[in-house]
Amino acid sequence: MRIKSQVSIGVVSTTDISVVILTDRGLGVRIGFKVRKIIASALKGGTGKTSTTVNLGKALYRAGSRVGLLDVDATAPTLYKALGLTDAPQWDLDTVAAKLIPFEVDGLYALTLASHYGESPAVLWDEPTLIRAMRELIHDVQWPELDYLILDSPPSSSGFMQALYDAVAGDVYGVILVFQPTDIAAADLVRTLDFIKIKRVPVLGLIANMAYCIAPSGEKFWPFISPKVELGSVCEENGIALLGEVPLTPSQSIIDKEFDKIASNMDGVHPLVLKDTMLTKLYKTMAKGVVKAAIRRL
Ligand SMILES: Nc1ncnc2c1ncn2[C@@H]1O[C@H](COP(=O)(O)OP(=O)(O)OP(=O)(O)O)[C@@H](O)[C@H]1O
Ligand SMILES: [Mg+2]
Repeated sequence: MRIKSQVSIGVVSTTDISVVILTDRGLGVRIGFKVRKIIASALKGGTGKTSTTVNLGKALYRAGSRVGLLDVDATAPTLYKALGLTDAPQWDLDTVAAKLIPFEVDGLYALTLASHYGESPAVLWDEPTLIRAMRELIHDVQWPELDYLILDSPPSSSGFMQALYDAVAGDVYGVILVFQPTDIAAADLVRTLDFIKIKRVPVLGLIANMAYCIAPSGEKFWPFISPKVELGSVCEENGIALLGEVPLTPSQSIIDKEFDKIASNMDGVHPLVLKDTMLTKLYKTMAKGVVKAAIRRL
């Protein structure tokens, strides 16, 4: 594993990058360099947002993109662990520009709130302080030239999350939803979409994580007691891209393969701003799926 501080040559601020996104959103045209700012999101905890941030980042990097990862999870900033580090690297500051400098791990640039918390077991900051720290991470970082900046967000629709979405609403390329195809997670997907609609942030698509297991015979099977909700057909019926189905597996190489597929399709997927009509339809489909799953369980 290679970890080093970034040399601050040819760096730009996120503010500069944002301007480029606004001009270039959805056109698929390269104007100078651009960064696609993506949020890995789910109002539900433990769905795989951090793993997706890291695995998608690695896959995009393998495909030749320049990738930054920003951990804005205020209560459990675990991105550095998912990157394979035992400790969060200390924050590196460009004192002249008063900007934070990301660290680099195996070609990926990253920054995490964990660097600020140190070894503190629980984060006891009040919400306004957390929000101020998050805004600094969004605006005061000297990223190198990037193609993608993936934000690892916390779960919940707290004031912090709302402030996070507000902070990026104008220049975010799209949200990637990360959910397990269980009835409980599916109900949270509806809530998450509602949140996203209210925040007027486009959706890039959904990753169904822990979507199946692979038996030694190679057969796919469903590993949970609760019934499976087919998120693929929910996406299809409602025009949301299903970016991929990632199995529940201890094999990093299988996960890498799935994320390579997702990364190679990223250019063909366009972010979608949710309309009320679309959401009403989605609610109906989701509600049917969730009710059916609940009945099967009885
Ligand atoms: N497809 C998968 N196969 C096996 N393990 C997985 C998979 N996806 C995630 N995990 C594991 O599940 C746990 C939770 O994943 P992760 O931390 O990415 O979720 P999260 O949504 O970021 O959680 P939180 O809401 O707490 O931030 C981690 O231990 C991770 O390694
Ligand atoms: Mg996480």
